[in-house]
Amino acid sequence: MTALRDGPASATRKGRPPADLGHINWPEQDNRIPREVYLDEALYAVEMDRLFAGPYWVLVGHEAEIPDRGDYKTTHVGSVPLIIVRDMDGELHALVNSCAHRGTALVHDNRGNLADRKCFTCIYHNWRYDLGGKLIAAALKEDFPVDFSRDQYGLPAARLDSYRGALFVSLSDDAPPLLEYLGETAEGLDLALGDGDLIYLGSQKVMFECNWKIAAENIYDGYHTVSLHKAFQMLQVRAAGGSQNLPDHNSYGHVWNEYRTGPAQRADFLRDTSILALKSKDEPSNRIVNIFPIGIVSDQIDTLSLRFAIPRGVAATEMQFAVFARRGDSDELVRHRVRQGSNLFGPEGFISLEDQTALSRVHDGAPGRGDNVVLKGTLARFPPYRILDEAGIRHFYAAYRRAVGL
Ligand code: FES
Ligand SMILES: [Fe+2]
Repeated sequence: MTALRDGPASATRKGRPPADLGHINWPEQDNRIPREVYLDEALYAVEMDRLFAGPYWVLVGHEAEIPDRGDYKTTHVGSVPLIIVRDMDGELHALVNSCAHRGTALVHDNRGNLADRKCFTCIYHNWRYDLGGKLIAAALKEDFPVDFSRDQYGLPAARLDSYRGALFVSLSDDAPPLLEYLGETAEGLDLALGDGDLIYLGSQKVMFECNWKIAAENIYDGYHTVSLHKAFQMLQVRAAGGSQNLPDHNSYGHVWNEYRTGPAQRADFLRDTSILALKSKDEPSNRIVNIFPIGIVSDQIDTLSLRFAIPRGVAATEMQFAVFARRGDSDELVRHRVRQGSNLFGPEGFISLEDQTALSRVHDGAPGRGDNVVLKGTLARFPPYRILDEAGIRHFYAAYRRAVGL
């Protein structure tokens, strides 16, 4: 069932017949992943339907990104384009970014403010909607069918809820309440987001040349951090203890990493080492919360960020990095957060650039057939895993397989 409000775009229809996924041969062992799942177009279509439009909540932003009346941002949940908007009464909505007339995307940019116009205007035939999605004007409607009523042509709205200001959307009426969905993983969000009163500093957007599941696996993979990430090795920054918690591992496979980093042992090859400074807290405590299917909230050193991964076809994943400060931070700390958020952890920073390369090469290797295997940490059947383990990938795929029906 769809949560999208009645309207032509969501008129009741029979669901598509389930695609035949019989050609995908998933091995018995839960630590093996058949490589074809990164390449298969039929499976991708099923993921969009049953997973991203299914009974789950997808992280789409933070309230701090749209603090004022009229603020909006655009995103996608699976393949569905959405506008996340604060209306003129201050209420938040997740509206389908698709005109009820002939489907033109109403908003084309990443974000903005419409407090002056107070409406979305379609460029094609000039229909106008208020910021809650209600159709308020349709041009030249005298020759429309006599029973035409603007009430029938609002923008479909998806379910929207927030926790500590983090915004989640569900396209399904069958998703459980958000708090139930998050389960004990909410504790990780409490630690990372605090009271949720954040200031949005900016975003970066980049395209990863890989299937979205390869990007999802990366967050469960502590194993690569000591091999791939040369900056950590050169600086001799070490994870000094920590764990990967999957408190509700039987349901959704969310993971919540908590670890401490020792200070850099060497930084003499950097002209300026201030990028590494810890200014916002006394202890080098770090948290990365990964919410199924693929939303990331992280508080690492002084970088407070939300990352959104949007599948853009079977071989492309759009990654958005949004960086935040806490209300009350000094100007100096805010500047430091922006700099560290982009130059250390951002898409062109010391860390993520290497991930992007590795992930695209995992995708390039997928046509080699056979299975990918998950080994490190699998002696422990259940979490908590150690911070350098990759075992949590099994839990992601347990939830994934339930979602897509494999
Ligand atoms: S498609 Fe939007 S007004 Fe025609
Ligand atoms: Fe990494």
